Amino acid sequence: VLSAAALAAVMLSAAPAMAACEEGEIVIKFSHVTNTDRHPKGIAASLFQKRVNEEMDGKACVEVFPNSTLYNDDQVLEAMLQGDVQMAAPSLSKFEKFTKQFRLFDLPFMFKDVNAVDAFQTSETGKAMKESMTRRGLLGLEFWHNGMKQMSANKPLLLPSDAEGLKFRVQPSEVLQAQMEAIGASPQPMAFSEVYGALQTGVVDGQENTWSNIYGQKFFEVQDGITETNHGIIDYLVVVSTEWWNGLDEDVRTQLATILKEVSDERNAESAQVNQEARQAILDAGATIRELDEAQRQAWVDAMKPVWAQFEADVGADNIAAAQEANA
Ligand code: LMR
Repeated sequence: VLSAAALAAVMLSAAPAMAACEEGEIVIKFSHVTNTDRHPKGIAASLFQKRVNEEMDGKACVEVFPNSTLYNDDQVLEAMLQGDVQMAAPSLSKFEKFTKQFRLFDLPFMFKDVNAVDAFQTSETGKAMKESMTRRGLLGLEFWHNGMKQMSANKPLLLPSDAEGLKFRVQPSEVLQAQMEAIGASPQPMAFSEVYGALQTGVVDGQENTWSNIYGQKFFEVQDGITETNHGIIDYLVVVSTEWWNGLDEDVRTQLATILKEVSDERNAESAQVNQEARQAILDAGATIRELDEAQRQAWVDAMKPVWAQFEADVGADNIAAAQEANA
């Protein structure tokens, strides 16, 4: 049994890092699932909080709840529609129930790097996607970058055939499930906060994620090594409910949008660097990173790319073409 003081300490440490909001301020709860430092999303959310709380003092106040302390990604969008949380930045794979357009971003080997993702998102086609869910009550304000995904398992992965028969945690996306099936693996959709435990206890054998997530969640500790596949991307949409957003006074809405845009531009430009640092930190921790030679990489492309055809009708051949242009 914890003493009252110990209990208070535990509760304090679980509380979001923030200055308490004052009476009369619009409280903006921002829920996300990653850590706050050394992570593209965590750093961006904290910077947004800091700037709003300084520059809009008396008007608005952001409270960031990181590390899935408030909601998992499979709960947060429903909670937003209920008005229980005002902002979130789920990965684009988490919007399955609201739009099929974002399946484009999960297609393996669609984008060669985060610069290509950025070029696509800032094109007319990409910008329009932020408004693809307004009929369902959600509005995308800005895209945030994380980076390229890498594969890991409890055994070395050099060829796709090494993954045959293994269970891989995936985000709840049909594209990602099809991608794992394409290499003969068994996909297991699961919340981000449960992945470390599932890898540790052998509920799943492997996972795919960015360097910053593999480092932040310490997946490398419970895997044989990480294979640098760069086979897909994780990117985010900062999202609000249309009802809440449209209900704000115009000056408040404009100021929030301006700060968010500046934070997005600043932090998106740093996402690749944050991931490189995480990659280095994984090496420094003594974990193995396996690089692929040309032929090995081509084997992953050949195994996974047929998945595009399965989803072409959902995402649109024209959107695939626009994404491919962004790689040029
Ligand atoms: C995941 O579920 O693996 C990621 O979407 C987590 C995140 O937000 O980066």
